[in-house]
Amino acid sequence: MPEIVVIAAVADVPGRPGDRLIGDGMELPWHIPADLKRFKALTSGWPLVMGRRTFESLLHQFGGPLPNRENVVLTRHPSAVDHPGIHVYGSLEDAVDAFADRERVFIGGGAGVYGSVLEGDSPVQADRLELTFVEGDFQGDTHFPEYRHLIEDDGPFVLEASESHPAKDGRPAFRFETFVRKA
Ligand SMILES: NC(=O)c1ccc[n+]([C@@H]2O[C@H](COP(=O)([O-])OP(=O)(O)OC[C@H]3O[C@@H](n4cnc5c(N)ncnc54)[C@H](OP(=O)(O)O)[C@@H]3O)[C@@H](O)[C@H]2O)c1
Repeated sequence: MPEIVVIAAVADVPGRPGDRLIGDGMELPWHIPADLKRFKALTSGWPLVMGRRTFESLLHQFGGPLPNRENVVLTRHPSAVDHPGIHVYGSLEDAVDAFADRERVFIGGGAGVYGSVLEGDSPVQADRLELTFVEGDFQGDTHFPEYRHLIEDDGPFVLEASESHPAKDGRPAFRFETFVRKA
């Protein structure tokens, strides 16, 4: 079984309506080039599993699938999703099974897909979380699942690395944090 790695950028404004935001229609709620660079560095060369709406948002933002990695798209209507160079599956389990020989598979959202691997009833569960916490109250419509209980002292994940970046040039402050499942 590959290592299952969740990768997400998540608004961190506890108690505010914008807390846990990840998306705004076809867009991200923010533009943080350093986060896009890190996303590219981490996911290049590995299968990246995503829901159909996230894939459509990539087409909208970048004009096509992400290069140098397998774009693996989940839909319950596989015949309706047709794009050259992508892999389409009807379930998360089938998608991960198809890459069972790989060392690592990234889970790139959206909300329901993250929920399934964080503590859903899917047999596919996250081993590692690569999260970017973005500090600011943004507009949007899609939220990351409740996760704080998972990274508390008695939760299943422990912080392995953290790197903070202050607000700069009109960009919000953010921090990269890696959590790993406790042995
Ligand atoms: N900040 C971040 O890191 C980040 C990351 C990813 C996405 N986003 C944002 O999140 C938004 C999109 O996410 P979303 O939650 O709305 O949608 P999504 O999860 O990307 O797509 C939902 C669709 O995926 C398919 N799907 C999901 N789980 C499935 C499963 N287990 N089996 C089969 N099909 C499955 C279904 O497609 P069908 O309806 O075709 O059956 C479902 O309607 C966008 O705003 C995007 O920019 C942000």
